[in-house]
Amino acid sequence: MRILVTGGAGYIGSHACAVLAGRGHETVIADSFVNSSPLVLDRLGGILGVAPICHRVDLRDRGAVASLFAGTRFDAVVHFAALKAVGESCARPLAYFDNNICGTIHLLQAMREAGVGRLVFSSSATVYGDPDSAPVREDAPLRVTNPYGRSKLVMEQLIEDLCERDPDFRAINLRYFNPVGAHPCGRIGEDPGGEPNNLMPYISQVAVGRRDCLAVYGGDWPTVDGTGVRDYIHVMDLARAHADALEFLLREERSATVNLGTGRGVSVLQLVKAFERASGRRIPYRIAERRAGDVAEVYADPVLAEALLGWRAELDVDAMCRDAWRWQRMNPHGYGFPEVDADGAE
Ligand code: NAD
Ligand code: WQD
Repeated sequence: MRILVTGGAGYIGSHACAVLAGRGHETVIADSFVNSSPLVLDRLGGILGVAPICHRVDLRDRGAVASLFAGTRFDAVVHFAALKAVGESCARPLAYFDNNICGTIHLLQAMREAGVGRLVFSSSATVYGDPDSAPVREDAPLRVTNPYGRSKLVMEQLIEDLCERDPDFRAINLRYFNPVGAHPCGRIGEDPGGEPNNLMPYISQVAVGRRDCLAVYGGDWPTVDGTGVRDYIHVMDLARAHADALEFLLREERSATVNLGTGRGVSVLQLVKAFERASGRRIPYRIAERRAGDVAEVYADPVLAEALLGWRAELDVDAMCRDAWRWQRMNPHGYGFPEVDADGAE
């Protein structure tokens, strides 16, 4: 299949391009680079053995999105492009609605005009907010708690409405839990600008010496050890699910909404310990105040993903930490700086 990958230069999108190419698909990236570097493309080219095709396009530019489809016939779209920082979305809600929702509407319009009727959409477990219980099934109540989450829920609903009204349009909303890790070659990975918002990149930067100490947000949650519990999922498992979702859309005459997680909860301190084992480094931490908006425990019920897509997560927390550490050690300052080999030499 020839697949348009919006946001394909980003963290998850770049790994998905690698996996999709490995499954014999042709990928074309569209990215504005608002939260990624064009240097990703060189790294991806090294992995694929051929330079990826990429168009610098902002999905907010409706005309530019339409032109993407004018020159090329796509069989499907995988739509990663979005802004994703929860805190920033609270400070700039309209920017999030504009980028994420308006961008998605332009994409859906262009797909319809071009007669492209297969979509895989990056949604998030954030649509569940603070769930009543875990594991969380897809039919759990949806309660968004911030503008980023609102944008994801609205986009899911727009897509579901289109699927209902248009028999030629089918889509899968994939609700990711907590993606972490990196490609096993260590050449692509997560490169947050500034201070990381998320746990795994923060731990990695402490391990590599860029930060002194991890602040653990709360030691008195009602969990196994008092720290927050999440469902961390290896980005390579996640990427593989996109290839499986595309094949589902070709095979089946229906749409779906599916959780992507391992089904296992891991606490902050359990992840710290696993990272220490993988890296051989000590991760200093201190227990800090709870972070506003955090919840105690969230992990997926992954049964539907296996039933519909034939997909289940295969890589455990040790593999997630091993691969996150390899990426961090080979790229201590992320893209844009010389790579060092796995033994630490430039
Ligand atoms: P990312 O920021 O690394 O990648 C997103 C990519 O989209 C970036 O390359 C960015 O430049 C691009 N982009 C953003 N707005 C654009 C626009 N208007 N036009 C064109 N390109 C644009 O993020 P990621 O972690 O790879 O996330 C990918 C998707 O998965 C997002 O939709 C995100 O909301 C979703 N998601 C991520 C997580 C997570 O924890 N990483 C969890 C759940 C869902
Ligand atoms: C995990 C655990 C923190 C940082 C967020 C978004 C969500 C989704 C994924 C896109 C929690 C604790 C964290 C730190 C810590 N993104 N923590 N110290 O909050 O589950 O989800 O990213 O859709 O929308 O909300 O992930 O990695 O930020 O936190 O103690 O420096 O680590 O309290 O228990 P979260 P996270």
